[in-house]
Amino acid sequence: MDIGTILQKKEFDRDDIITLLSVDNPADIESIRAAAESVLLSECGDAVFYRGLVEFSNHCDCDCHYCGIRKSNASINRYTLSMDEIISSVKWSAHRGYGSVVLQSGERNDAGFVDFLAGVVAEIKSATVSEKLPNGVGITLSVGEHSRQAYERFYKAGAHRFLLRIEASDPKLFASIHPSAQNLERRVNCLKTLRQVGFQVGTGVMVGLPGQTVENLADDILFFREMEIDMIGMGPYIVHKSTPMGIHADYFNQRKDKIFQTALLMIAVCRLVLKDINIASTTALQTMRSDGREMGLRYGANVIMPQTTPAGVRKNYLLYDGKPYLDDDAKLHHAELQKSIRSINRKIAVDSWGDSERAIRRSGR
Ligand code: 5AD
Repeated sequence: MDIGTILQKKEFDRDDIITLLSVDNPADIESIRAAAESVLLSECGDAVFYRGLVEFSNHCDCDCHYCGIRKSNASINRYTLSMDEIISSVKWSAHRGYGSVVLQSGERNDAGFVDFLAGVVAEIKSATVSEKLPNGVGITLSVGEHSRQAYERFYKAGAHRFLLRIEASDPKLFASIHPSAQNLERRVNCLKTLRQVGFQVGTGVMVGLPGQTVENLADDILFFREMEIDMIGMGPYIVHKSTPMGIHADYFNQRKDKIFQTALLMIAVCRLVLKDINIASTTALQTMRSDGREMGLRYGANVIMPQTTPAGVRKNYLLYDGKPYLDDDAKLHHAELQKSIRSINRKIAVDSWGDSERAIRRSGR
């Protein structure tokens, strides 16, 4: 079936998704991009939602083979921001009209961490109540796998969205990038628990993993659909040299352009298939190309997460090589980002939590 015929469909099956993800001529890519943009505009509107991203700790109990802050990487300084440092980053976002923040860290399962984070969430809520944000900023957490009790505490403290990437929904691929102590089933169960606890749930994968096929990516999208997820955070896999997967640097460098293009296509096809969810245009896209985040928005993403982590610790939160704005203060780029969003005819939503249309519909608001 040709691309034009597939794009006319209302529902897509696995073969359609594989065909869409396999295109590599510019005209077909542009047709898919334009179709995704049009679904975005009709389902969600032209607003781009900002979340101020605070990478508040790089301590991690996990040893994911791809990740620069994995437990076994002895070459980085470990840090955890204080309550005051986190609150001051969050206030910076709130003052600029970012209605939401994302608190991200490595994964730590000790009780001290859970207490600390629940306290931080509660404090952010009370510190950011204003006329414009009567319920404070919206809080998304991205802190990995936890018990139901911990998730409940975070939710009760006031967080209402949670990002937990599945990384790869295929069991073999998942196993090839993680130590055996981590397993796919537990990750899926965490996603289900998060939903039961009341969170809006986001997930995502890395695109361009060694051994990943287009069928894997299509199945990832079907997984997102089956799990009825509200948000996606997804980006290209980028090598970090001090990790076990650092040996794939050549593989990665030879395929960079293709991986970037496939990551954009994944955004577009997710938009076509999943329609009314939020999709983030991630820092990893921007790492591969300076206008990568804007490209993500043009392919159907509607969320941007500018880093507001204090500049002093940012060099210790390198999930992959080449992460941008390391020495710079990302805050300097605020005006630049506003300008480039306007240049692609999108508007910036201010003082709004920016929940996905899907989550709003589900809650009957
Ligand atoms: N390349 C791209 N993304 C990465 N992440 C971790 N390491 C890498 C890497 N080398 C992503 C994972 C994780 C998120 C916080 O960062 O998908 O869920």
